[in-house]
Amino acid sequence: MQELKYKTINLASEYDFDNFEKIKEKSKYRPKFHITPPHGLLNDPNGFCYFNNQYHLFYQWFPFDTFHGMKHWMHLTSTDLCNWQEHGSKITPIESYESHGAYSGAAVVEDEQAFLFYTGNIKLDSDRDANQCLALLNADNSVTKYAGNPVIKSVPQGYTGHVRDPKVVKHGEGYVMLLGAQREADMQGCIIVYQSNDMIDWVFKGELDIKVTAPFLHAYMFECPDLLQVDGHDVLIFSPQGVEPNEFRFHNKFNVIYCLGQIDFDSLTFTVKHWDELDRGFDFYAPQTLANTPDSPTLIAWAGTDEELPSMELGWIHCLTLPRRLSVKNHRLCQFPDQLFNAANSHHQLNFQDVTNQSIELSNLSFYLMVNSNQNDFSISLNNKKGREINISINKNRVILNRKNYDHHNSDWKFGNERQLDTNYEINNIKIISDESILEVYINDGMDVFTCLFFPDETDHQIEVSSDKNKPLDIEFKYLTI
Ligand code: FRU
Repeated sequence: MQELKYKTINLASEYDFDNFEKIKEKSKYRPKFHITPPHGLLNDPNGFCYFNNQYHLFYQWFPFDTFHGMKHWMHLTSTDLCNWQEHGSKITPIESYESHGAYSGAAVVEDEQAFLFYTGNIKLDSDRDANQCLALLNADNSVTKYAGNPVIKSVPQGYTGHVRDPKVVKHGEGYVMLLGAQREADMQGCIIVYQSNDMIDWVFKGELDIKVTAPFLHAYMFECPDLLQVDGHDVLIFSPQGVEPNEFRFHNKFNVIYCLGQIDFDSLTFTVKHWDELDRGFDFYAPQTLANTPDSPTLIAWAGTDEELPSMELGWIHCLTLPRRLSVKNHRLCQFPDQLFNAANSHHQLNFQDVTNQSIELSNLSFYLMVNSNQNDFSISLNNKKGREINISINKNRVILNRKNYDHHNSDWKFGNERQLDTNYEINNIKIISDESILEVYINDGMDVFTCLFFPDETDHQIEVSSDKNKPLDIEFKYLTI
């Protein structure tokens, strides 16, 4: 087991390759336009950037099994953020400074060069250590590890070995690196900051003071920090672990926060004006934003964290969310997958105007549904003849997403199969994108989003939309393919 856990892809046998081919042939549960691993386990998106006239995306990948083993960086490219070409592992952890995995990190593009920063994970007997490493993405799509790695050896004094997930941003003439960390003194999570003039020599500056009183500051670890500008706001994103549930927020094992406000690198402070959870569904973690974008800021995340899902039986587990374009509206960070609609083909479009009840029989589960309403008491059900159902109900400013008939959960699962959101804005449209085993539900074009996995064994699904007060609704439906 230990041998398999830390096996790298360069050691794959013929038997492994046969097995990989068999896994790729099976299509059950496989989303059509969400990224899944060809075989094995996928987690965080990494190194997301636009370089050499194409988008590059990597993800954390353990090729051999569906548990968290030796992490590689799988590489994908795309010209439209929708159709992706897979290139295999480009960071395979075979060096001593990354002996137990090439952990997450991000890209910086500068002077026609793309720099990939990542964490070399080191497991010691009863402890761990972390090195920050650099690799160059070349114009021919190859990746070369920097010969002087690691660029940051081990962790600064006062922090445990849990220091990881570098995000590097340009600041003035130099660069700043944010890292998720855990303090030794109180074993609490935080973000630490390094500074460099050349991306090679890094100096530890201290901790980022996130100026806000909020429950998410009490976490045992912060992972995957990210920082960008959206519509004139500085946006800080991170994934805290161990936050206590607070009314209807933080109901997942791990959650993700965004803060709108202002960064000050001189005083190492982020002044928070607004914050919220980035996603209100069940399955969303470790997002990453596009490092340098030719158009608008864009985010993609791991639609997961569950250790067990039904697709494991087929030899793979987990997918990414759709890339979502970011904007700020009414002090909220909004997300919407515009790129999918630019690239996808749609078929069998149906429009219903002024209806109070409507059923749509489905021939497959990759579709788009929009319900428009200027009253807000209605429900949407995706169900089948065996009684399995996902239900979304809107009642004034309350949205409830229920997937109790699609229970696929194990002991990780403390918070049940319902998620509730009370908005402080009027709800006037719901857009749902379904893709075989994942639903993304966008409220008011993405002012709030619910990501939800479900694993239907049966066929014969239908959608039922009903207006609770018999007030008219507008519905648009179409199948999506790419
Ligand atoms: C987040 C995370 C990161 C780490 C990576 C390892 O899901 O735990 O902090 O770098 O996954 O795969």
